[in-house]
Amino acid sequence: MNMTVSRSGTIVFGSAVLIGAVLVARTIPLGAAVGRTPLATTVALQASGADPVARGAYLVKSGACNDCHTPLKTGDNGPEPDMTRMLSGHPAELAVPAVPTLPAPWLSAATSTLTAWSGPWGRSHTANLTPDRETGLGTWTAQQFIDTIRNGKHQGTGRPLLPPMPWEAFRHYADEDLASMFAYLQSIPAIRNKVPEPVPPPGAPVPPPGEAVPPPDAPAPLTALRTAPTHGDPVARGKYLVTAIGCGDCHTPMTMGPKGPAYVMSRMLSGYPSSSPVPANPALQGWGEFGALEPAFAGAWGVSFAANLTPDAETGLGAWTEQQFLDTLRNGRHQGRGRQLLPPMPWPAFGQKDDADLKAIFAYLRTVPAVRNKVPDPVAPAGK
Ligand code: HEC
Ligand code: HEC
Repeated sequence: MNMTVSRSGTIVFGSAVLIGAVLVARTIPLGAAVGRTPLATTVALQASGADPVARGAYLVKSGACNDCHTPLKTGDNGPEPDMTRMLSGHPAELAVPAVPTLPAPWLSAATSTLTAWSGPWGRSHTANLTPDRETGLGTWTAQQFIDTIRNGKHQGTGRPLLPPMPWEAFRHYADEDLASMFAYLQSIPAIRNKVPEPVPPPGAPVPPPGEAVPPPDAPAPLTALRTAPTHGDPVARGKYLVTAIGCGDCHTPMTMGPKGPAYVMSRMLSGYPSSSPVPANPALQGWGEFGALEPAFAGAWGVSFAANLTPDAETGLGAWTEQQFLDTLRNGRHQGRGRQLLPPMPWPAFGQKDDADLKAIFAYLRTVPAVRNKVPDPVAPAGK
């Protein structure tokens, strides 16, 4: 079997698995491939002898699921994930501050645990992803998990998932990767924690009992997602990772379109626009983090602006070496040795990706259109 274990202990799938799964995918009629078809990739994974739990652990830890699904607590060195509550979502007993009055441009607020989120959608709470049977995913099937992320609906068919769950990025993960994440999530300690129901925004239409407010237009079904591109084609592999992880969710500016927030594609991955005003430091009013449509973030660290990841030589990553990029994600410093990167850049998670994945991400970022955009320097916290 063509499977190797890389230096960091993660599993690299060989081409035999890929070909097998592609053949399986071909036999499934188009359209049905995304829906409730049997999980063909599970068969492929079993046949390959790959360990889905180890693969899933890698994907969940390095994919930043903990950032929102594990509550932050205050440790000796500032905020740190409370691993006694690993991936168990917003703590049921935790009171959430009153809805904040947000000065423009701020649109959303998160508690300092990063588990409760307030915005135009009302208030959402991150879900319990542990295998507790009553309050977590203990009774879910792998297919329900895949359908949840692909369709953005609870168990694939229930109520629409609210922001900020990045399912529109994660739906681009291949079946084998989603199935592996689920296998890992089913293997972690079950934690009993009944996450509160979402709170609709003031004045929202009240849905009939048991029904949800009509969802926005469902995204087009995705097909041919059986397997992820391999490292044989680093640019394709990197594009896969950047899309599925959702780097653009923070690094691409958004604008309010007729159907809600939409990416400004001419500014893809180019960070906070230099043409926009630099927002002042807002009062946090008991909340931990504020976000805006154009990618600025406020918190105890002041105001941070998502960086320009395009290959523009002067304002983006055009002059960076691959090693500087790897070092930045591994130790959270600009080019590996400059200033410390501010939240919410999830480098502690992404830095756990193996060299081959990080190199693939860099290879892809070199191919996106260069956008000249000098992102503003961070604003220091008030009083500093
Ligand atoms: C930016 C914050 C954020 C990140 C990062 C995030 N989630 Fe979520 N997730 C949420 C929120 C908020 C909800 C609850 C949404 C709701 O109630 O509609 C949620 C809900 C879910 C659900 C639905 C549970 C249910 O009962 O329907 C699943 C499954 C899920 N997340 C898995 C993941 C996985 C896997 C990852 C990492 C690959 C991840 N999430 C990363 C915020 C996040
Ligand atoms: C939750 C939001 C968020 C996500 C998701 C995110 N980033 Fe960032 N990123 C930021 C912010 C904010 C900064 C700026 C931090 C600062 O100025 O200290 C940043 C900075 C960076 C930098 C440092 C640039 C420099 O000049 O030092 C790199 C590199 C980077 N991000 C790469 C990525 C990649 C690759 C991904 C996807 C795998 C990604 N980011 C996903 C928010 C995010």
